[in-house]
Amino acid sequence: MKIIFIGDIVGSLGREMVNEWLPKLKEKYKPQATIVNGENAAGGRGITEKIYKELLQSGVDLVTMGNHTWDQKEILDFIGDSKKLIRPANYPNNTVTPGKGMAYIKINQMELAVINLHGRAYMGDLEDPFRVGEALVEEARKKTSHILIDFHAEATSEKEAMGWYMDGKVSAVVGTHTHVQTNDARILPNGTAYQTDVGMTGYYDGILGMKKEPILQKFLTQMPNRFEVPETGRRKLNGCYIELNDSTGLATRIEPIRIDDDMTWFD
Ligand SMILES: [Fe+2]
Ligand SMILES: [Fe+2]
Repeated sequence: MKIIFIGDIVGSLGREMVNEWLPKLKEKYKPQATIVNGENAAGGRGITEKIYKELLQSGVDLVTMGNHTWDQKEILDFIGDSKKLIRPANYPNNTVTPGKGMAYIKINQMELAVINLHGRAYMGDLEDPFRVGEALVEEARKKTSHILIDFHAEATSEKEAMGWYMDGKVSAVVGTHTHVQTNDARILPNGTAYQTDVGMTGYYDGILGMKKEPILQKFLTQMPNRFEVPETGRRKLNGCYIELNDSTGLATRIEPIRIDDDMTWFD
């Protein structure tokens, strides 16, 4: 099984990059599953139904979310009926929280389970992502050995810990949320593909996908400032490519994907 995972899509520039590059990535990698993190897809804040549908139309099979899940209030109206949109599974009142934290992608005879988890270090008070994650993995394993976790978390330590905790139990643990791609894609000893953060997709010349000036001002003056997501400018697309052994579900390959407007990534 071949999978492409694309990190946090930020605003219209991020969506543009997906539209432009996903066909080329599919040609190169021939993935059976394409998953994107869409928590910043609507101008940096959450996702709308229109954008969700556009992403599916551009060739995405499943959208994961994060701490920005609820930023667009309209998500409460459509997440319940959206089978290809998941939010973090570890909300304290998970069973009554709208939406789901796990979904399956059907691929011929196989299925890929995708789980979205939210970190706790420097991020707030959700349920323990390790124990919630483990319970979901157990549930998923009744159906399939192909399981991917999007761990949306701030601390590299918490993310590495999740990688080790899940090593051998799932196909891949990929990190999102920091918007900066880490140079540590690897296969852990028991067969789980791991990358601390796959990075973001959107504005290239800013800070985490936003205009740099207001953020710089905040650092320099310690005064509050309104952050803006630009709609024009140079762009980037970050993610990773993963290959699994079809019978075991364990990873045989992971490589980072990094495309910037100022570099030629393809040979
Ligand atoms: Fe994000
Ligand atoms: Fe986030």
